[in-house]
Amino acid sequence: MMSDTMNRIGRKPARSTGVLILAAGQGTRMESAIPKILHPVGGRPIIYYVLRVANALKPAAIGVVVGHEAEDVKTEILKIAKDCGISRPIQFIQQKKLLGSGNAVLEAVPFLKKFTAAMVLCGDTPLLTYESLLSLQRVHEEHKAQATLLTARLSNPKGYGRIVRTPTGDVLKIVEESVASPKEAAINEINSGAYCFEVAALLSGLGQLSAKGPKGEHFLTDILELVRTKGGRIIAHLSGNPEEALGINTRVQLAAAERIINRRMLERLMLSGVTIVDPASTHVDADIEVGQDSVVEPFTILRGRTKVGSQCRVGPFCFLENAQVGNECEVSLSRLRDCRVLEKCVIGPYSNIRPESVIGPRAKVGNFSEVKASRVGFGSKVPHLSYIGDTDIREDVNVGAGSITCNYDGKVKHKTVIEARAFIGSGTMMVAPVRIGKGSSTGAGSVVTHDVPDGVTVVGVPARPLPIRSGGGTPAPAKPGAGRPLDKAGRK
Ligand code: UD1
Ligand code: CA
Repeated sequence: MMSDTMNRIGRKPARSTGVLILAAGQGTRMESAIPKILHPVGGRPIIYYVLRVANALKPAAIGVVVGHEAEDVKTEILKIAKDCGISRPIQFIQQKKLLGSGNAVLEAVPFLKKFTAAMVLCGDTPLLTYESLLSLQRVHEEHKAQATLLTARLSNPKGYGRIVRTPTGDVLKIVEESVASPKEAAINEINSGAYCFEVAALLSGLGQLSAKGPKGEHFLTDILELVRTKGGRIIAHLSGNPEEALGINTRVQLAAAERIINRRMLERLMLSGVTIVDPASTHVDADIEVGQDSVVEPFTILRGRTKVGSQCRVGPFCFLENAQVGNECEVSLSRLRDCRVLEKCVIGPYSNIRPESVIGPRAKVGNFSEVKASRVGFGSKVPHLSYIGDTDIREDVNVGAGSITCNYDGKVKHKTVIEARAFIGSGTMMVAPVRIGKGSSTGAGSVVTHDVPDGVTVVGVPARPLPIRSGGGTPAPAKPGAGRPLDKAGRK
């Protein structure tokens, strides 16, 4: 950063670059109560991508101009910064009146003055790549330009500022669509909204901006012509990848960005060794991880912080949101949210694994079974038509078809513990709070209202220990390895 001390002692001031992100606009065209840059795309707020790419460029600091719903926007940005480990300083600049992008930059003058150069980005362009911005910066420096802008050629340039060049190809100015002549509007080279400026040139132009267009806004884009007329060098750096210039003003553009982020992610996964059987019907958010040699079958949606291990098969028809799936799992036709599935599990078809659940390793949750805030231990099985809520199932338990935990008494949720090697007969109701002991069994259709001691078999409604044949007394505990005292129907 340039400092007065360094100037006084006569050394050349170091070159420093700050990034300024414009994010004060309301986003009127989104027709939304949510500030535009907070709308999710690829599972993250639009601004997330801009912050992430800005940070990757390693600027001296990041400034963000906020205005509309500033407090919400600031909170979200700080959350993102923490989440992505952005350690460089983020300074917020309040734009008092939303008088256009030029006015937004004008408000940021105290921030800009700290640097010799500034990169200015729009908060609504999430597809800009690190590579393009880095080369924008390099071109700017190599040409010793006063302003360098990233442009793109679009088959449909509607809505963007158009780049007007001289017959020899030099940049003359940017003309906003709202004030463009038909000839200018026909130009298909557009302004991406990403620029590098020498701060001195930027500041000298800012003071001269005048209100324009139907809303009397100050267009940042007018700066270029002002800089040029003062003899400044303006360079347009044409992106080889036009889609990255997409700015999100409407929900139609939001959907277009979603599609591009999805495609980029799917390509990244495929190139890292994941088979995506049908990319057209597969949707993955921006930060999804899938391990090598996993296969994602059609009609599968991976959202949020989902991580899938290697050698898994996920899909068809799966919805995973913030789910962590270990290696060698099979998940089909199921929904998993905010849960963990450890290695070598089989989930589905038609399972619903709800938040705070941990399944496995080597466990199975199958046909039409729902698991909520529960653990299913090593090798345990909940294969058919069960509801398991607030339950701790230890290892090698078998839960028979149609068995459920009755965890809610109308007021409070209660816990169920099913100890290791317990055998839950089909259609058992476990009325929580209740503990089913180690190696114990329940008969088909039993309603268990009291704890079952280790190794004991209970049957009936309400379930009672099975009388021993010699008459009366409590049944003898099942001997380890002696086999199951009842068949699945609770008969001897
Ligand atoms: C802007 C550019 C246009 C470019 C396009 C690229 C101007 C005048 N036009 O148009 O040349 O092709 O982006 O996507 O800059 N903002 C503020 N304060 C304001 C107004 C806007 O901070 O008072 C912010 C917005 O939050 C947004 C950015 O500036 O992030 C651009 O504003 P927007 O209204 O989206 O401009 P466009 O019409 O898309
Ligand atoms: Ca825009």
